[in-house]
Amino acid sequence: MSSLRNLNNPVTLVTGASSGIGEEIAREAARRGHRLVLTARRTDRIAALAAELGALAAIPGDLSAPGGVAGLVEELSRRDIAVDILVNNAGVGRQGSVATLPAALQTGQIDLNVRALTELTIALLPAMVARGAGGILNVASLAAFQAGPNLAVYFATKAYVLSFSEALHEEAKAAGVNVTALCPGPTRSEFADVAHLHMSTALRSSALVADPAEVARTGLDALERNRAIAVPGLANRIAAFGTRLVPRSVARRIAGRIQK
Ligand SMILES: NC(=O)c1ccc[n+]([C@@H]2O[C@H](COP(=O)([O-])OP(=O)(O)OC[C@H]3O[C@@H](n4cnc5c(N)ncnc54)[C@H](OP(=O)(O)O)[C@@H]3O)[C@@H](O)[C@H]2O)c1
Repeated sequence: MSSLRNLNNPVTLVTGASSGIGEEIAREAARRGHRLVLTARRTDRIAALAAELGALAAIPGDLSAPGGVAGLVEELSRRDIAVDILVNNAGVGRQGSVATLPAALQTGQIDLNVRALTELTIALLPAMVARGAGGILNVASLAAFQAGPNLAVYFATKAYVLSFSEALHEEAKAAGVNVTALCPGPTRSEFADVAHLHMSTALRSSALVADPAEVARTGLDALERNRAIAVPGLANRIAAFGTRLVPRSVARRIAGRIQK
């Protein structure tokens, strides 16, 4: 039996809960009886969602800012909140070449997608290990499986999240802590607008773009079963597996063509 099943109404911290996949993970976790702590920068959004879902707390903050993670951890401790499940979902991308995108837009992705995710994990994992139960769901991406020209930093950050999560999955399982990397393909959310992705309206509304609620269910199911990697959707699983069958040079060129 998974260690998560031993947790009654676990306290679940969801980062990036103000929209998209994070908001749907919060809704699905609430349905499963989790007591929620929501965080993101948009205070009004997380406060409204917290009220709707009867969450334990909504703690606003910018996780990519210096001291952002430390501030959140301090606030958790001040409110005496022990986190059983950490959902590292907050993430951003920005389309464009490394030579032309403003530096802050590129390093900001590393600050949020990599540093904040790692800092939160380091801060909250020891108590889970001490309790012998807990879970960490890290939202990576299908982008984690190959290099991505024109979204180079974003793809590299997601490769980090996948590698880090897989290693952590092995380290933590003996201690009873589940760790899963959730690797969604294109999913309906605010991501494409924030990333300035060149995506036609037809493509955005097509069946190729997943429902975030479905992605959220897949992620929480995989965490409960302690799957190291979860790729929602058959087409995405074929794409992820396909990158192992073709040379890396082919995989990165295909990714570059899609991101043009
Ligand atoms: N949508 C896709 O196609 C797709 C595919 C694969 C993986 N993903 C991954 O899924 C995760 C969720 O993205 P999404 O698609 O749901 O996009 P989204 O709707 O844009 O959500 C991103 C979330 O991150 C939060 N966030 C952004 N910057 C932040 C910061 N500096 N500090 C704290 N929170 C911050 C946002 O809230 P505030 O703006 O209120 O801070 C928002 O709640 C990301 O890790 C993304 O890389 C998305």
